[in-house]
Amino acid sequence: MLNGKIKLGGDKSISHRIVIFGALSSGICIIKNLSDCEDVKKTINILKSCSITIQNNEITTVQGGELLSNIKEYNCGNSGSTARFMLGLLPSHGVNGRLYGDRSLSSRPMNRVIEPLTQMGIIIDNTNNQLPVTFQKSNIKAITYTLQTPSAQVKTALIFAALSCNDKSYINDPFNTRDHTERILQYLGHRESSFYKLKIPSFNYTVPGDISSAAFIISAAILIPDSNVTIKNLLFNNTRTGYIKILKKMGANIEIYNQRISYNEPIADIKIKYTKKLKGIHLTKDLVVSMIDEIPIFALVASFAKGTTIVEGAEELRYKESDRIKSMVNNLKICNVDIIETSDGFIINDSKILYNTSIEVKNDHRIAMAFEILKLILNGEINKQVDEIPVIKTSFPEFYETIRDLNE
Ligand code: S3P
Repeated sequence: MLNGKIKLGGDKSISHRIVIFGALSSGICIIKNLSDCEDVKKTINILKSCSITIQNNEITTVQGGELLSNIKEYNCGNSGSTARFMLGLLPSHGVNGRLYGDRSLSSRPMNRVIEPLTQMGIIIDNTNNQLPVTFQKSNIKAITYTLQTPSAQVKTALIFAALSCNDKSYINDPFNTRDHTERILQYLGHRESSFYKLKIPSFNYTVPGDISSAAFIISAAILIPDSNVTIKNLLFNNTRTGYIKILKKMGANIEIYNQRISYNEPIADIKIKYTKKLKGIHLTKDLVVSMIDEIPIFALVASFAKGTTIVEGAEELRYKESDRIKSMVNNLKICNVDIIETSDGFIINDSKILYNTSIEVKNDHRIAMAFEILKLILNGEINKQVDEIPVIKTSFPEFYETIRDLNE
């Protein structure tokens, strides 16, 4: 069983953004609880190679200043946020070069940012809409743009570009994607709905616990008998809480308390207890956006529920670190789940006994964690250190340690 009180490392989405805002600021910024994951390290390394001084220990210190770079190649690793944010940030702030990534990132669509950033005047040399992408320092034109895909990465890339232009840009988000960039700007004193060149003051910031990492712990606690886990200081922003709300609708024993605002982000403490009976549920497009990163672990939990679960409107999952619809459907089938793939989601029929067997993680951190949780549920323990799956460090470097501590 999982038992205890924990705090989690900083939210990955906020960590990328806050460190970039530190770089754009006019002084020394002190950031606490920055995520230590591999993706955020890629963002930090690129900023460092653009002459930004960043000391990343217990506390992170970022000294803002002009972006100046002699190197021409920027490694985004596995991180979609790094690639898309940097394509908005670097050329608009006087940097030339080429962004590249690992195999998975190099197969993900970049046209969603290339197209609007080109409209904003960024000079991009690319033919296949995938990394590597070469860019030149460019003067930015303001834009009024409505997001074509439900992507906060695209929205944020455009905002970073807009922050280098004196004229006002307007970015409409009909999908209600995560709003951390806008909230950080508000925290820094910008209260308008348009984006333009601002003087960003130096700041202090504490990053709340990562709600997408929490999803794995929450799910394990619900499914492992006698578990009782409290997670404190967790990000509880409406654009990210879809999974917790859905679990509650499925009957999960989750209590949310101590809701408050910290650094302009809603946060809360939550208590999760083992839940004997979960009901299947129907997820539609409007719900999917606020739990997009949690769908892999949701699929696992739904496999233990009574009744049918239907997920629709989740086609964006096909463009993540792997095609997450295929990855979950194929792997759950091997584990004896009655699951059918559809074009934009999947259907899971009534619960069956799940087998623990070897699955294909496709080098996708969230797929790997979902099936590590299945092993934990079926075996009662998490992998030994030698068998840890390295790709998990992409987003949740404390994954194994957290579970070992709770499972003692
Ligand atoms: C993120 C947005 C989402 C999410 C990703 C992080 C962000 O991607 O899947 O893990 O920090 O803005 P999309 O914007 O591509 O949906």
